[in-house]
Amino acid sequence: MAIAFDLNGERVSTDAAPDTPLIWVLREHLRLTGTKFSCGSGVCGACTVHLDGATLRSCIAPVATVEGRSVTTIEGLSADRSHPLQKAWIAEQVPQCGYCQSGQIMQAATLLKQNPSPTRDEIIQHMDGILCRCGTYGRILRAIERAAEEG
Ligand code: FES
Ligand code: FES
Repeated sequence: MAIAFDLNGERVSTDAAPDTPLIWVLREHLRLTGTKFSCGSGVCGACTVHLDGATLRSCIAPVATVEGRSVTTIEGLSADRSHPLQKAWIAEQVPQCGYCQSGQIMQAATLLKQNPSPTRDEIIQHMDGILCRCGTYGRILRAIERAAEEG
């Protein structure tokens, strides 16, 4: 039986098996490839999306767990790339290879929603565990601070 959920504001459904990780439904069935697969075991954060406004590691979340709920991916963060974090990411030229960056932005977005003016320590704590093999952490930090200031 199809599993239906809201994705970036639109109702979608999939015939994928209920235990299929959400990331594969997003990438392979629904063709939204902004969400990246890396460790596949919930430890790197590259696959981070939002479920009902909270972060979710989509590589370890069976699609059945999102049935009837609301998922947001990097493609749905804003209609026209105008989210303060997206603008700040461009201004600070954050990405290197880029692979981790949608996860970084989705993680940061939940912080600014709960806490529009985080301290540097609060940012570091919230972003802990979202790994960047290129070591762009300094630019990520500056971009989040810029987004908070210019929001
Ligand atoms: S790919 Fe999901 S946490 Fe690493
Ligand atoms: S920019 Fe390359 S892994 Fe983060």
